[in-house]
Amino acid sequence: MPDLAEQLRELERNFAEEVDRVGDEQALERVRIAFLGRQGEVTAVRRSIGTLPAPERPGAGKAINDVVAAMETRLEMQRQRIESQTFAAELSASIDVTFPAIPATTGAIHPVRRVIADACAYFARHGFAIVVGPEAEPDYYNFDALNIPSDHPARENFDSFWIGEKLLLRPHTSPMQIRTMQQHRPPIAVIAPGKCFRRDAVDARHLFQFHQIEGLLVAEGIHFGHLKGMLTGLCRELFGPDQSVRFRPSYFPFTEPSAEVDTTCPKCRGTGSVGGVQCGMCGGSTWIELGGAGMVHPNVLREAGHDPARYSGWAFGFGAERLGLARYEVDDIRRFVDSDLDFVAQLA
Ligand code: FA5
Repeated sequence: MPDLAEQLRELERNFAEEVDRVGDEQALERVRIAFLGRQGEVTAVRRSIGTLPAPERPGAGKAINDVVAAMETRLEMQRQRIESQTFAAELSASIDVTFPAIPATTGAIHPVRRVIADACAYFARHGFAIVVGPEAEPDYYNFDALNIPSDHPARENFDSFWIGEKLLLRPHTSPMQIRTMQQHRPPIAVIAPGKCFRRDAVDARHLFQFHQIEGLLVAEGIHFGHLKGMLTGLCRELFGPDQSVRFRPSYFPFTEPSAEVDTTCPKCRGTGSVGGVQCGMCGGSTWIELGGAGMVHPNVLREAGHDPARYSGWAFGFGAERLGLARYEVDDIRRFVDSDLDFVAQLA
C-alpha cells in the first residue's frame, strides 16, 4: 500500500484535473461530492488513519487537513470562474435597454413629388379635380387641338420625341386641357400633373424628362383676375406669405392673351441681393419664372365643343422641377435626378 503522502498527492492531482475540466456548477458539485463528500475519496483516506501507529496519526490528520484545505480553495476558485463566465454569457445574451438605438432609415417623399403634391392639395382645396393622362399623345391632342396646326412654327418650340408618324412623348401637359374639355361640360376645374419629355440639351435649368403641373378652369364669367388670384395663392402656399406674381406678356397659340408667370425670388425675397451680394437665383432681377399661362383661346374652346361666346377659361402650365429649384434654393435641376441620397435627405 502506497504511503499516505503519496496517496494524498495522487488524490490532489486527480481532484485538480477533474475540477479544472468542469464548466458548470452542477458538474463542479458532483466532483466535490466525489472527493470531499461523506462517502468521498478523502473520507476513505481518513479512515485509513486508524491503521497507522498511534504516534503517526496526528501528523497524518494534519496532512489530510492541509490537502482538504487546498482542495477547497481550488474548488472555490473554479466556482468563481464558472460564475463569472456564466454571468458574462447571460449579459451578452440579454437585451440592454439602455443601449442607444440604431436610427431607423426611413424614406421620404422626393422634393419634386412634394411640390406636385402640395400644389395639387392647394387646388383640391379650391374644388379642382386632379386628372392624369397618357405620356404618349397623338399629335392631335398635343398640337392640332391646341391651335397649333402642322405648319405652325410654334411646333418647333416643343422639341418632341416622336415615336410614330402621329404619336409623340408629350412635351407639355396641355393635351390634358383638350381631353378634359372633350369629356366634361363646364364648369371645369382640373389640375393635371405629369411627366413631359423634350429633346432639350440637359443643363442647370433643363432636363429631357421633367414634370409639369397643368391647370384649367372653364366656366361662365371667368377672367384673368381669377387666374392671377389662384396663382398668387399657389405661390404663397409653396414659397411663403410675401410672394407676388407677375405676368409678362408672351405668346402661346392656345391662350389669348398669354403670359409668362414670374414670382418673387424666394431666395432674396425680392431684394435682388443676399448678404450684399447679387442673388444667385434670380441674378438680381428679383423675379423667377415658373411657366406659361393665359386665357383659353376661343379656337381651343370651340375645338373641344364649347361655345366661346358663353364660356371663358384660363389655363397655366408650370414646371414642377423649376418650382422645386425655387422652393428649396437648389442651384442645378440635375440634382433632382442624380440619385444622391445625401441631397434628397437634406430636403426630406
Ligand atoms: C408650355 O409648356 C405650355 N404648355 C404652358 C402653358 C400651359 C401655357 C397652359 C399656357 C397655358 P413652356 O414651354 O414655356 O410652356 O414650358 C412651361 C414650363 O415647363 C417652363 O417654364 C419650365 O418651368 C418647364 N420646362 C420646360 N422645358 C423644360 C425642361 N427641358 N426641363 C425642365 N423644365 C422645363
